[in-house]
Amino acid sequence: EKGGFEYFMDKEIQEQPDAIANTLRGHFDGTSILLDEQRLGDDELRTIDKVVVVACGSAYHSGLVAKYAIEHWTRLPVEVELASEFRYRDPVLTRDTLVVAVSQSGETADTLEAVRHAREQKARVLAVCNTNGSQIPRESDAVLYTHAGPEIGVASTKAFMAQVVANYLVGLALAQARGVKYSDEVARDFADLSAMPAAVAETLTRMDPVRALGQELVDAKAVLFLGRHVGFPVALEGALKLKELAYMHAEGFAAGELKHGPIALIEEGLPVVVVTPSPKLRPLLHSKLLSNIREIQARGARTIVICEDGDDIVAPFADTLISLPSVPVLMQPLVATVPLQILAAEIARARGFDVDKPRNLAKSVTVE
Ligand code: M6R
Repeated sequence: EKGGFEYFMDKEIQEQPDAIANTLRGHFDGTSILLDEQRLGDDELRTIDKVVVVACGSAYHSGLVAKYAIEHWTRLPVEVELASEFRYRDPVLTRDTLVVAVSQSGETADTLEAVRHAREQKARVLAVCNTNGSQIPRESDAVLYTHAGPEIGVASTKAFMAQVVANYLVGLALAQARGVKYSDEVARDFADLSAMPAAVAETLTRMDPVRALGQELVDAKAVLFLGRHVGFPVALEGALKLKELAYMHAEGFAAGELKHGPIALIEEGLPVVVVTPSPKLRPLLHSKLLSNIREIQARGARTIVICEDGDDIVAPFADTLISLPSVPVLMQPLVATVPLQILAAEIARARGFDVDKPRNLAKSVTVE
């Protein structure tokens, strides 16, 4: 069943191009985005004035990524909430709030309770879920299924990718229903998404240096992850993978926060993974991140730089350079997450841990 791979997670990482393609399939008819099993009509989508994503763990990170896209595309405010915090703080919800509950399993207790709370407050609830007929979609007003296929490894990989894609579809559907985007623009964004299975497949062919790096970092005491814009939630996701699989201290930061505290952590040889934006598409962001890389390198950090193909500006400051296919800004998380998954799995393997079944963790967390 593992298809020749040592772990299910290895196989699931390789299945990510299919997870993206299958999640997109059937959701654009050439004119409009179609949300499946939709019981929210265009009229209802039109009245939405705020989006709140609720989720846990990697699913929460998929919401953080999508916030950049949904706000940009719809001009609606998007909040992203940890499901376990949501209902305890008396969130502001109305009939015109769209709550998007993201869950691979559809059984996560905190997310389910957030759904129940949102419905009591009369918000509209859309589940983004990978498991047919599970509890969260059953209790929601509508559901958009991710089609990642069953995920056995405890660490979320292909499910996370599919969640990002599904959240993006929600953003495009809202933008179109609100009249902020016309069909031709939606068609362009959908084409960008449709090009991602190939970009992720290409990324997967370049991972040997990442595996080698994993072997080198087997005894690291800690690893930091930095990013800006969509690279920030990618950094959080990379750190979560490393914690749960390799039991290593790992933290993700917004690179701009470095000098507000975290830079004090930098010492000789500390590995720091930096998710770098495109120098062509985001020159300002790129130059800010470059100064962050220079700051940490000057203090002895070992810089591991994830960047776009042909980024000669950052290359001299990278102790290890991992270059990925060039993609549109909002698509970068779909390629940049891949090396972080492989790095975590490789370090865990080198440390002799079971990559599919990390200690103390369950695939679905059905207690609060
Ligand atoms: O089934 P869910 O998507 O609701 O699960 C949420 C989290 O428990 C899950 O993403 C967890 O953080 C993963 N093990 C991370 O790899």
